[in-house]
Amino acid sequence: MNLSEKKKRIALPDNFRLFSLDNGADVDLGEVIDGLKATPKLVAPKFFYDARGSTLFNAICTTDAYYPTRTECSIYQQQAGAIADAVGEDTTVIEFGPGDMSKVRLLLDHLRPRTYIGIDVSVAQLEDAGPPLASDYPWLQVVAVCGDFGPSVKLEEHLPDDSRRVAFFPGSTIGNLDPAAAENFLRGLRSMVGSTGAVIVGVDLQKPKSTLEKAYNDPEGYTRAFNLNLLTRINRELGANFDERRFRHKAFYNEELGRMEMHLVSVIEQKVRIGDETIDFQPGETIHTESSWKYTRERFAALTEKAGFASHKFFTDERGWFGVFVLSTK
Ligand code: AVJ
Repeated sequence: MNLSEKKKRIALPDNFRLFSLDNGADVDLGEVIDGLKATPKLVAPKFFYDARGSTLFNAICTTDAYYPTRTECSIYQQQAGAIADAVGEDTTVIEFGPGDMSKVRLLLDHLRPRTYIGIDVSVAQLEDAGPPLASDYPWLQVVAVCGDFGPSVKLEEHLPDDSRRVAFFPGSTIGNLDPAAAENFLRGLRSMVGSTGAVIVGVDLQKPKSTLEKAYNDPEGYTRAFNLNLLTRINRELGANFDERRFRHKAFYNEELGRMEMHLVSVIEQKVRIGDETIDFQPGETIHTESSWKYTRERFAALTEKAGFASHKFFTDERGWFGVFVLSTK
């Protein structure tokens, strides 16, 4: 621990705790290699979020082109009271992928939970955002958990059992999962919150292709840098030799499936070394780095029913661009 780390630690508020799950946030060499050897090639989007990737993602969210963050926040700003009424009191809020923790802030004064647990793959974000949240809300217990909230997550033992559980899954992060996986994830949340809890989930909605494609091709170039940073991260953490200049950012709306796709396109024929392996690329061949599924209200509601939720409340913005669902088990 260096001095500045020590100081940071000494200044931590009493109502803040940070710990790591053993599934950690490190890049798993095996998982990345498996994806690069598959046809078509893919790398999971959770690997975007090293320190630089998280900073770039936060920059994307400030652009005019990337409408989801601003739109979702406007819904929380306008509907916090109604959302809190739907959710009830004496809760533990568990947020999946909180990033800079700015969204939950819009709800806290209305929700007034006892405990807030944020689980994220980015330890840098948890260290930056957790302590200020705890100092700004001294009545709240803040627990930051570093880990991957994929299918194997074991959170149960960390959840207090004297309050009702509310899962908070904003940002349309659920859009990274294909609909079958999203349904499974929701089913997992359903069993985590039990019969007395609730789920607040933010979902990006279908809209014209041009608006969608602009959002993933911002003129500032943050999304391009965010996508390409994956290669830089793999180079650094897994000893690979990707050349960022030989790959190009590509993002388009797949209308047939209803999802945005991000790819890294190899501009030439090339070989890339990673660990002990060599991966061949044909010119124009891509690594699929992310899908962001876009739903209609009806389609997402049907998914929540299949996952075992009995009813929901729906909140949206004036344009109907983004949906916030409050799911309940009865
Ligand atoms: C955080 C997964 C919701 O899919 O829109 C932003 C990530 N990727 N720009 C999204 C992202 C490119 C974002 N999610």
